[in-house]
Amino acid sequence: MVKICCLGAGYVGGPTMAVIALKCPSVEVVVVDISVARIAAWNSDQLPIYEPGLDDVVKQCRGRNLFFSTEIEKHIGQADIVFVSVNTPTKTRGLGAGKAADLTYWESAARMIADIAKSDKVVVEKSTVPVKTAEAIEKILIHNSKGINFQILSNPEFLAEGTAIQDLFNPDRVLIGGRETPEGKKAVQALKQVYANWVPEDRIITTNLWSAELSKLAANAFLAQRISSVNAISALCEATGADVAEVAYSVGKDTRIGPRFLSASVGFGGSCFQKDILSLVYICECNGLPEVASYWKDVIKVNDYQKSRFVNRVVSSMFNTVSEKKIAVLGFAFKKDTGDTRETPAIDVCKGLLGDKAKISIYDPQVSEEQIQRDLALKKFDWDHPVHLQPTSPTAVKQQVTVTWDAYEATKGAHGVCILTEWDEFSKLDYVKIYENMQKPAFIFDGRNVIDPQKLREIGFIVFSIGKPL
Ligand code: NAD
Ligand code: UGA
Repeated sequence: MVKICCLGAGYVGGPTMAVIALKCPSVEVVVVDISVARIAAWNSDQLPIYEPGLDDVVKQCRGRNLFFSTEIEKHIGQADIVFVSVNTPTKTRGLGAGKAADLTYWESAARMIADIAKSDKVVVEKSTVPVKTAEAIEKILIHNSKGINFQILSNPEFLAEGTAIQDLFNPDRVLIGGRETPEGKKAVQALKQVYANWVPEDRIITTNLWSAELSKLAANAFLAQRISSVNAISALCEATGADVAEVAYSVGKDTRIGPRFLSASVGFGGSCFQKDILSLVYICECNGLPEVASYWKDVIKVNDYQKSRFVNRVVSSMFNTVSEKKIAVLGFAFKKDTGDTRETPAIDVCKGLLGDKAKISIYDPQVSEEQIQRDLALKKFDWDHPVHLQPTSPTAVKQQVTVTWDAYEATKGAHGVCILTEWDEFSKLDYVKIYENMQKPAFIFDGRNVIDPQKLREIGFIVFSIGKPL
């Protein structure tokens, strides 16, 4: 029986390994983590992450060939293939702070594998890492190897949160990069066989290590670039009377461009787009390519501009002040169908409004008050951020922010409503009831284009939707 151990039971490690276990009954999969609480949650009925379809997959194979454990050393020792799916955040201190990927967790994972291993292992980079990381990992493993043969593979993950299970069941492609030596090729084949249990062969791409590492960064940069492109156009739509939905539809009909990933929004969020583009920018700078670095940096600049543009729109249309006014925020997660708030645009928008002394009342179906208060008090690395998006102090945050579990409660008595996540339920709310319970004039700012502006205007709202005629 092939034994797999995965270090890191997060948004990637958990779902990815659960699907491998489901699709490969003859493989034993153990997911380990340094966080005792996270592992306990994976072993309970309340999984640590919300992801449609995940509960079902875990229920089917947990205890059969899928296990979650904190006994890291034991399971690394027994494994043939070790996936490393630990976090790789942006560095906040020292060389490359605010841009470079922080590989502290990765390096300590690699050192642990080197220390513990007593038999040959294939070590798989699942985390998103800078191109050439495998070379560094190889050095750590080989210099501490005590004669053991390690093969490093790059197998980046392309799942998106909210659709993780569907993406894993039916991936556009699986990418495996390895050394072009006989041992390297053998390791690539071993991993390929695992995926071949459910992924058609023509969707399993094999490349050299550096192409695989760079493809992941490039894919995220291209995706984020599409959003910044449509968001840049949304600003011009508002200025000219064009409708961004109509423009995106017409543009996307060109088969060379395609229709997906062209929804204008308050800005992209999530743990990866910004971090991975910053990492790409840093790599370009380190390789003496400042023009390439600056090209990609602008994708983030437009995203920051979109968030501050939204805040400015709210404040300026509400007579240039939101001081002491109640603003309801509907949606805090970075996208629908997830409880994840990492780098959510809602953080920057709320901080912008708090900076203008608004009183904010937040409702998100999947995000708790504790999480929201923590996010709003958190210091973010202040790379390139406009002054009004600077963090607010924790005490001020607590006094100015309330969190409810009900959209009607959040909007009651509010002067304005901001929709910041595209949860399906927000298009189905009773807006007549919401209007009646709000201060007048009642403003609504739709950062996700989920409501019909015309219908809401008929109710009496003053409506601003991203990229729509005013
Ligand atoms: P995460 O923070 O949810 O999970 C990482 C886990 O690794 C944490 O639970 C942490 O406790 C654990 N960990 C850290 N050091 C460890 C160690 N030495 N041993 C064992 N466990 C350790 O992160 P994530 O969202 O799952 O992302 C992981 C990687 O995958 C990142 O590089 C990210 O860029 C990449 N990625 C993420 C997504 C996504 O949708 N979140 C998609 C594709 C790729
Ligand atoms: C993204 C990629 O889609 C995945 O392929 C990749 O594996 C992952 O990053 C990663 O490396 O972490 P994710 O961040 O989970 O996945 O979610 P997306 O669906 O890409 O959305 C990212 C952000 O862009 C969200 O805030 C979303 O609301 C926003 N978005 C997306 C738009 O504003 N407009 C769109 O048209 C699409």
